[in-house]
Amino acid sequence: MKAHIIIDGTKIIGKKRPVFFGSFIEHVHQCLYPGIFDPCSDLADENGFRKDVLEEIKKLKPGTIRWPGGNFSSWYHWKDGIGPKNQRQTKISYADDIIREESNLFGTDDYIKLCNQTRTEPYITVNAGDGTAKEAAEWVEYCNYNGNTYYADLRKQNGNVQPFGVKYWEIGNETYGDWQIGTKNAIEYSKTVIEFSKAMKRIDPTIKVIAVGMGKHDPDWDRIILNNAWDYIDGISVHIYIGRHEYFDSFGQILTIADHLRKIEDDIIKIAEQKQSKKNISIALSEWGIWYRRGHKDDLDEVYNLKDALVFAGAMNLMLKFCRTLEFTHQSMLVNCLGLIRTKADGIVKQTIYYPFLLFANHTGDIVLAPDVWSEGFSCKDYRYFPWPTFDVGKDNYQIDESKVPQMHNIPYLDVSATFNSATDELCIIAVNRNTEEAIETSIDVRGYQCENKASLLVVDGPDVYAINDFGKDNIHMQQFEEKLETQNLKWCFPAHSITALKIKTKRV
Ligand code: AHR
Ligand code: AHR
Repeated sequence: MKAHIIIDGTKIIGKKRPVFFGSFIEHVHQCLYPGIFDPCSDLADENGFRKDVLEEIKKLKPGTIRWPGGNFSSWYHWKDGIGPKNQRQTKISYADDIIREESNLFGTDDYIKLCNQTRTEPYITVNAGDGTAKEAAEWVEYCNYNGNTYYADLRKQNGNVQPFGVKYWEIGNETYGDWQIGTKNAIEYSKTVIEFSKAMKRIDPTIKVIAVGMGKHDPDWDRIILNNAWDYIDGISVHIYIGRHEYFDSFGQILTIADHLRKIEDDIIKIAEQKQSKKNISIALSEWGIWYRRGHKDDLDEVYNLKDALVFAGAMNLMLKFCRTLEFTHQSMLVNCLGLIRTKADGIVKQTIYYPFLLFANHTGDIVLAPDVWSEGFSCKDYRYFPWPTFDVGKDNYQIDESKVPQMHNIPYLDVSATFNSATDELCIIAVNRNTEEAIETSIDVRGYQCENKASLLVVDGPDVYAINDFGKDNIHMQQFEEKLETQNLKWCFPAHSITALKIKTKRV
């Protein structure tokens, strides 16, 4: 099979923010305890963090790590998690209909330590379930205030003289859902957001406040929130989970993400016009991931195969196209639950999706380009207009009438993104070959940049699309290559079912 790519330096989509590819940790199942924090482990450092996990987070370089939830945040009271550890109380966690005991041994100071050690930005979801605006404002005071007030002093007593400077604050989690503590309708929630934002920004006017959005899940929610709370928010979020067992249909589902993001973009533009406002409200994809096997009642311990990694990479390629409005993308979650990494007492395994995350977070530039790609395509089912499948994972009555699912055609086998790194003058291309049998011989034409004569490539591949990585069994791995470039043209054969990050150094002209 053959394909052709033209990269033109003048075809710029926009600028990607440095925090664009982030992740998410939540106090559920094995994600935080013991996946990240396990003071009793032989592998823990002096702070109780798993050293092997920390090393991987540093390599993965998430821009931000959202915390403490998820559903967990709608119940979480931050004051339970500060101060001397031997005085912290174990409480019941109401997140997700499962009774779980929360030791509170990992709290705000531990989270900031984790962010500092892994060089990521904090992003906190406050409790808009059974929490109050005052409690959220006190959290901002504890984290960011530099005076001599009760909560600022408490932070100092707890060993942190300098304020943490937490910039990003999301007001609640999926507040629309009946699975949530403190479910609200859009009108109620917009009032909540206004009150929270007012109080929190009074303490620190430089913080960015993100409201809970819904995208296509509800046609009205985002409009109501944007309309009512416009002056009080800086961003609006959405959560999207995708994934299916069937190979080709899984790729069709990536377009769900585009549908949701486009819908929110449209709403933002319309409300800005109505209000004649120049304010830039951004979008936070504050949870996204591949989730179709295990429900909340299980352990969320999805073991991903190579197909899932190819879908994951395609989703990230697509997200780049939304860089003008999309500010955060939080892959859900970092460890164990739907995770990039799985842990057991004496070791870790890098899941298949670890690799695309690594490639995108490390090998994409700040300028997002629009490459032209000619590639043959495949047909698949279009599940976009059915409800979010994971809404009903594990529910007996969840059924799709397969006969009503339309088909889509000409979905390209070769899926490509291109970015330029203005700090290193490198052109970065990420290509996913979704053909299960054939390599794709591709010619890549570069215009508008003067290329050096060498390209470096990282290729992620495995024996077949259903191969997984497990403890002691690394089927999916990454190989490095160097290739010569003839003037402005590179020929490269993308192996069947693979993800490739290709970097070309360019000369300043
Ligand atoms: O565990 C993942 C859960 O899924 C999060 O708590 C919730 O926000 C999402 O719907
Ligand atoms: O129902 C939607 C999601 O599914 C919730 O966020 C999650 O907690 C549940 O399992």
